[in-house]
Amino acid sequence: MTAISTPLLALNNGVEIPALGLGVFQTPPEETRDAVRAALDAGYRHIDTAAAYGNEREVGEAIHGSAIDRSEVFVETKIWISDYGYDETLHAFEKSARKLDVEQIDLLILHQPLPSAFDRTLEAYRALETLLADGKVRAIGVSNFMVEHLTELLAQATVVPAVNQIECHPYFQQPDVQSLDAKHGILTQAWSPIGGITFYRDGDHGSTLDDSVIGATAKFHGRSPAQVMLRWGLQHGRSVIPKSTKPSRIAENIAVFDFELSDEQMTAIDALDTGRRGGPEPDAITLGAFGREIPEA
Ligand SMILES: NC(=O)c1ccc[n+]([C@@H]2O[C@H](COP(=O)([O-])OP(=O)(O)OC[C@H]3O[C@@H](n4cnc5c(N)ncnc54)[C@H](OP(=O)(O)O)[C@@H]3O)[C@@H](O)[C@H]2O)c1
Repeated sequence: MTAISTPLLALNNGVEIPALGLGVFQTPPEETRDAVRAALDAGYRHIDTAAAYGNEREVGEAIHGSAIDRSEVFVETKIWISDYGYDETLHAFEKSARKLDVEQIDLLILHQPLPSAFDRTLEAYRALETLLADGKVRAIGVSNFMVEHLTELLAQATVVPAVNQIECHPYFQQPDVQSLDAKHGILTQAWSPIGGITFYRDGDHGSTLDDSVIGATAKFHGRSPAQVMLRWGLQHGRSVIPKSTKPSRIAENIAVFDFELSDEQMTAIDALDTGRRGGPEPDAITLGAFGREIPEA
């Protein structure tokens, strides 16, 4: 198999991030090493994990156990809400860095806003700014920040986030968040980029994989629906982080740099937005409902 090389996107601080990475949400720790190894073999150079996924250690082991130099792999992870607060978040960096077995994390982001305790969210972000100034991380950002959360953060922050990782697939595109991101030079990174949330969670809309517009576009290009959705996200300038534990799908998902969707095909997929999110409402995220201890390294 020939490894595919991924184009890079420049973040607002000049750091470059591979446009496509492997997501490992819901990848069990015991399957994570193999998934990351398969991804590195296929050409991925960007892995998106999180303290809350419980598999940072295995992500690190796969990277260190590979023939690829650590410096060539962009490692992104997330601070969980239970570790928000200035000192707590500085310590959470140490936990993640030790589990990943790295000196420096390429991109460290806040996993969620905590709307009911936004002061803690701001303190956590201030810790990210310190980690950035100290060279412990190369870039900082946020995830699941809606317009109101981002606006409040931008009013307080010294460093504009480099990335806002949000649910973004054909059935839920969040144009308001995307345009605020763009206005401030924040890269929108799409989670569930092939609509994973629409088919692994019971919802009231069907799977993006079975969508007829996406299916027809896939047929036209001789590609899979997943490849069409990833291409659509990339052509919009987003970073995409598809998850799979299956080597064949991992390889399929990166094979998206040798075809192009037409303007009409892009517009037809844009028109599939239902405005209904698959994931939890960011405002429903509270420490009471979602808090849980992130173990020490
Ligand atoms: N910040 C956040 O709050 C947040 C939330 C959710 C996700 N994320 C990040 O975003 C990443 C991706 O999101 P996601 O995992 O929710 O959804 P996704 O990548 O859109 O979809 C993943 C699902 O699609 C399947 N799949 C993968 N490739 C496929 C293909 N080519 N054809 C058919 N099915 C395929 C996977 O199953 P198999 O593994 O069995 O192949 C899995 O069930 C996560 O892993 C995580 O890193 C972040």
